[in-house]
Amino acid sequence: MEDWNMLSAKQTTSSAPGKLMLFGEHAVVFNHPCIVTAVDQRIYAQVELNESGKLELVSPQLTYTRDLGNLGSPADHPKEAQFVVEAVKLFTSKHMLAGIKIETHNSFSSQFGFGSSSAVTVAVLHALHTITEVSITKNELFSMAYQCVLNVQGLGSGFDLAAAIWGGTLFFVTGGKTIEPIVCPSLPLKVAYTGVKADTVTLVKGVAELKKTYPEVVEHLLMSVQSIVLQAKESIHNNNWDKVSQLMNINQGILESLGVSTPLIRQLSDSLKQKGASGVKLSGAGGGDCLIVLQDSDSQTLQDPSLIDVALQAEGVKTET
Ligand code: PMV
Repeated sequence: MEDWNMLSAKQTTSSAPGKLMLFGEHAVVFNHPCIVTAVDQRIYAQVELNESGKLELVSPQLTYTRDLGNLGSPADHPKEAQFVVEAVKLFTSKHMLAGIKIETHNSFSSQFGFGSSSAVTVAVLHALHTITEVSITKNELFSMAYQCVLNVQGLGSGFDLAAAIWGGTLFFVTGGKTIEPIVCPSLPLKVAYTGVKADTVTLVKGVAELKKTYPEVVEHLLMSVQSIVLQAKESIHNNNWDKVSQLMNINQGILESLGVSTPLIRQLSDSLKQKGASGVKLSGAGGGDCLIVLQDSDSQTLQDPSLIDVALQAEGVKTET
């Protein structure tokens, strides 16, 4: 083990983007592919080495201090600190630290479901490696961040971590079995916010229950999602937005069948379609959070109070200078 105590105190900041699921949510939990894009809403993690023997976390939600030698398990910490503490714990299981202060801040609210836990996990791990000058590849960073999420949450496909690390738009298979950029010059999607915060873990468990009760029926639905994802990948790459719209609507129908849509999502979707949207689907676990919206190319610019301003295909994790 190297002792970073020997290094003079210094600090660095890494930032990682949030994400927006485009196609394939839920199916990706069960070994199917999905498509995700990174959004230009970032989380910043500033880390500073010291000799306090402590991990000190300062975030918009809390200030929290623990002995570095006794980081315990995720359940020992407040929810808002769990991902950061687990990231530090995984890092210190390989590299010794004499003391560390981590300050995080967001350019977005965690309410939108843009993946603040995944972005903060990636930003913290990236900053820890940068400040200690330990090199790490993107794939290694993904494995470490995925381990961290599984330790805290017990489930998840890891798609959000891939978006935070690689950025852009990605074709992704469960656990990072495939992580492949989809090259497209622009992604003319809009984003609408339902005003409701969803609980991903509860919704994922709900689909798993449904699959247990109706294994064949649900597996057929998930296979259909896989086929949608493969066609959407081609259509996005070829800028065939009419087809992307249709595929969004079909994917939304399957998400309805899986029980993760809501009357509010339906209502908002109908209203957006009346105003000129050609494709609307929920993005992520469902239950609320955001919708992705494609507009008819020949209709006037879509206006709706639910639309929020975010740029897509953002850059992956990086050091801030
Ligand atoms: O709720 P979100 O935006 O974190 O998306 C969850 C997507 C799922 O496919 C339902 C779960 C997962 O880990 O892939």
